[in-house]
Amino acid sequence: MGEAQYCQRPMVNPRMDAYGRIARFYDTLLEPVNAPLRAVGWKLHPTDGSMTVLDVGCGTGAHLEAYVGSGAECFGLDASPAMLAEASARLGDRADLELGDATALPYRDSSFNLVFTSLFLHELDAESRTAALSEIARVTRSEGRVLIIDYRAGSLRAKGYVTRSISTVAERVAGRDHYRNWRAYLSSGGVPAASAQVGLTVEREKIVAGGNFAVWLLRAEHPQPT
Ligand SMILES: C[S@@+](CC[C@H](N)C(=O)[O-])C[C@H]1O[C@@H](n2cnc3c(N)ncnc32)[C@H](O)[C@@H]1O
Repeated sequence: MGEAQYCQRPMVNPRMDAYGRIARFYDTLLEPVNAPLRAVGWKLHPTDGSMTVLDVGCGTGAHLEAYVGSGAECFGLDASPAMLAEASARLGDRADLELGDATALPYRDSSFNLVFTSLFLHELDAESRTAALSEIARVTRSEGRVLIIDYRAGSLRAKGYVTRSISTVAERVAGRDHYRNWRAYLSSGGVPAASAQVGLTVEREKIVAGGNFAVWLLRAEHPQPT
């Protein structure tokens, strides 16, 4: 399945698995948050059997399962062997899953109609975030789209303060580097600011959970051949 999409396959060190302990419980904890966010994303950009979809930082594959259900040809990449094992148990051969690093995607240029990523970019330091977004733009077809779910920088409504407080605890518990990256992501303007640096243009933004999260639909500006 899907060999045409691949180029090089980068190495990931399985001993550095930040999700090794939590992978088995991840969906129990996160699906109550993830499922409504996924529904918003689906409304912004549904898929069908004519499309190729890549989920970057696919984790346990819960989002990919929805895209598989639409008949799209699905690919998922994650740096965590434990999370990928959950995705593999869930999806079997219905998606092409790859252990890898989002800052060096092993796919050819312009491979996908939709590149999706959820609750992933805020984890990265600024340099890796730019590199991952640049890779996402590279592998997205010029007529394709990028769909991003993540924390939203900016003012919160009442509900947003509640959900941001819960998120603050969760991001702190995730570790010092994780927490520092999340704070830096928010203070630097989050997804709209980071994606503008790599030629990804926000077409639509849907604010969710009182402003704590948002779902963005973006398009990639590919340089025209001369
Ligand atoms: C918070 S989880 C989100 C998982 C899933 N996208 C979701 O919405 O539930 C972040 C995921 O990003 C993955 N990740 C972190 N850094 C990565 C990198 N450099 N390359 C690929 N995946 C990475 C982690 O292993 C983890 O599975």
